Formats: sequence, structure tokens, C-alpha cells
Amino acid sequence: MEIKNVAVIGSGTMGRGIAEVFALYGFNVYLEDISDDILKKALNEIKDSLEKLAKKGNIGNLNDILSRIRTSTSIEVAVKDADLVIEAVPELEDLKKKIFSEIEKYTRKDTILASNTSNIRITNIAKDLMNKERVAGLHFFNPPPLMKLVEIIKTEKTSDEVLNALVEIVKKIGKYPVKVMKDTPGFIVNRINASGRLLLCLLIDKEIASPEEIDAIFIKQHYPMGPFELMDYVGIDVVYDSMEYYTKALHPDFGKCKTIRELFKNKQLGKKTGKGFYDWSSGRPVIDTKKATDKVSIMDIFAVEINEAVKLIEQGVATLDDVEKGIQYGLNRPFGPISVAKNINVLDLKSRLIEISKRWDCKMFEPINSIKNGYYPF
Ligand code: CAA
Repeated sequence: MEIKNVAVIGSGTMGRGIAEVFALYGFNVYLEDISDDILKKALNEIKDSLEKLAKKGNIGNLNDILSRIRTSTSIEVAVKDADLVIEAVPELEDLKKKIFSEIEKYTRKDTILASNTSNIRITNIAKDLMNKERVAGLHFFNPPPLMKLVEIIKTEKTSDEVLNALVEIVKKIGKYPVKVMKDTPGFIVNRINASGRLLLCLLIDKEIASPEEIDAIFIKQHYPMGPFELMDYVGIDVVYDSMEYYTKALHPDFGKCKTIRELFKNKQLGKKTGKGFYDWSSGRPVIDTKKATDKVSIMDIFAVEINEAVKLIEQGVATLDDVEKGIQYGLNRPFGPISVAKNINVLDLKSRLIEISKRWDCKMFEPINSIKNGYYPF
């Protein structure tokens, strides 16, 4: 399966970033969206991003890269010669299903159809399609030009040929592929991150500490951003949608985050609106590490993330190595949950999780089978 022509449907932050990466690595790209104005804005953003990359290293001729990106407001035009189509429209299952049906109408039978959804099961998106073996998830991280990880999600129907072709293409664009072998909500990285996020949100809902006091703890651990700063960076709307989806698809405990809901309702969406947990109106917030609080235990956050990571390994969703590398490369963290787990006695972890789940009345945090039985599955 040789891939030369790529179509990206949706030119928001992720879509335009993905288009940029493929063009950067020599692929012909068609970027599609609903209006010429939106596409014009996306091309300007791509140019800005390429200029930033050019300042960091040699990326070749900027105009050559840009000339490989064509735009269209017609899905038919964008996808008809594509070998790979990547959908990156808003996180609404029905919208994605509708777009995939249209893509299916205009593509060759062997064109690979991928979704960049952050959370939604690919099986649901592909439900009404005729050739489900060519459908998979291809999940990039924000900002796509800088983040190394791409999750490749296999459904029960995805063929091995398609899975392997996606692994190869991800390597060709200079990224690190991890395989998600079972199509589960949130896949690997967002799923593990969401469990820590839930606990962090409960802490601020109860005013145990402020976002900055908590973020400072993580910055001191060499995270590139604090967890609340990161929520602002990706968008409170994106975080809210994912929490809503997990509440339905994974566990009702995800519906307990009050502050996120309030920020979302007040349209305080973080970086994109200038205000979220932080004020972004004069640029990235500066987090004072001296404010790191001892009212919050970083080990509690690690514990719930390890529990979720072990769950994914137990359920055969991903390998140990892909879970560890996924968190490192998907969130640019200096270490992942497995290396943390290796330094924590499993019985201590078990009692910590029991205590956390009781304290917060969250069954979600109860220890998973192997931890409950006193061992790690690695
Ligand atoms: N293209 C786009 N944006 C770029 C860029 C490029 N080529 N180069 C830099 N930037 C942006 C940064 O986001 C930031 O934005 P502003 O210009 O608006 O301030 C700014 O440029 C900072 O640039 P720096 O060169 O100082 O930044 P950096 O290279 O040191 O690191 C970063 C920036 C990679 C975002 C780093 O802070 C980081 O790793 N943060 C964590 C990111 C993360 O965890 N992403 C995953 C989020 S979860 C997700 O994406 C899943 C999902 O499904 C939504």
C-alpha cells in the first residue's frame, strides 16, 4: 500500500497541524473545510508554524512545503485521489459518522480511512460503512508538528495490512507509532491522563489547592506544562467534551468535575479565549514553582494513572512499552507510569488506591484486579 496523496478533513488546530506534518515530509495534501475563509486562516497558521520550525532547524524550502498543500471546500474533490484520508472534525460522533459516509462514497475501495478522534471508539464511527477493514484511528497530539507520538487504533475489523501501512507512514513522517490493539474510549494516553485529571479536578473543586499550586508540583518534576496549564492549552471545550464522553462510555465518576463544567459554560476555554484556569491574554502563564503545595500528594495522581495504565495492559489494549512510551511522547513527560510503578510496592499502591477511592467516593479509582491481588502484570 503506497501512500502519496493524503486528504485531511477539518482544518482546526489538529487538522491543519496534521496537514503541515505530511507536507513537511513530501506528501501531497488536500485540506478540506466548510469555507474558504477558514481554509485561508488555516494556511496562515501553517505558514506561522513552519516559520517557527524553520527557526529551530533546517526544514527545507518553505514555499515548496506550502505548495504541496491544496485546499477545497468539497469533500469529493479532497478525497477522490487520496491514498489516505484523515478526519479531524469536532468530537461529535454523529458528525464524524456522516463525514465518513461521505468520504466512503468518493474514495477508492483501497483508500485507508482514519479518524484523529481523541476519544471516540473508531468502531462506532465506522458502524455504517461498507468496508470496515480499511478504517482505523490515527491519533496525533497537540501541537502535531512538535509532538512525537501517534496512536494507531485497530478495531476488530481493521485489516493487518492497513494497520501495518499506518505504522510505516507514521515512521515516514518522523513520528513514533504505538498500536492500540483494542478500540477503547480514550485509547492509551488520553485514557491514563483522564484518570489523573479527574482526581486533580476534584482537588480544585474542593479548593484543597489552586491550579497554580498544583501545576508547580509537576513543573518541578520537569513536566513541560502543569496539568491545568495543559488543559487550558488544549482547550477547556476539548477537555469538557472528553469528560462528558467518558462519563457515558467509561464511568459515571468522570461527570464529577464541577470547575471544568463551569469554565466551559462561561466560555472560559483557556488559551483560545484568553482565559481558563489562567489568564493567557499576555501569553503563556508563568508558573511560580515556589508555590508548589504540600497539600496535594503527587503520589496520589501517579497512583490513579498507574491503575489505569495497568488496566489497559490487563485488558490487552496495549503493551507495557507502548503505555510507557505513549505517555512520555504523547505528553512530553520525562517518565511514564510504568517506570513510576516499578518504584512503588504494589501493596502500598493497593492501599493508597483504596484510600483515594473512599475519600473521593469514586469507584473508578478502586484497584484493578492484578493490583488488588498484590502483583503487577509486568
Ligand atoms: N507549530 C505549532 N506551534 C508551535 C510550534 C510549531 N512549529 N513551535 C512552537 N509552537 C508553539 C507552542 O505551543 C507555544 O505557543 P505560542 O507561540 O502561542 O506561545 C509556543 O509556540 C512556544 O514555543 P516554544 O518553542 O517555546 O515551545 P517548546 O518547543 O519548548 O514546547 C510544547 C512547546 C511542545 C507545546 C511544550 O510546552 C509541551 O510539550 N507541552 C505539552 C504538550 C502536550 O502534552 N500535548 C499533548 C496534549 S493532549 C492531546 O493533544 C491529546 C488530544 O487528543 C487533544
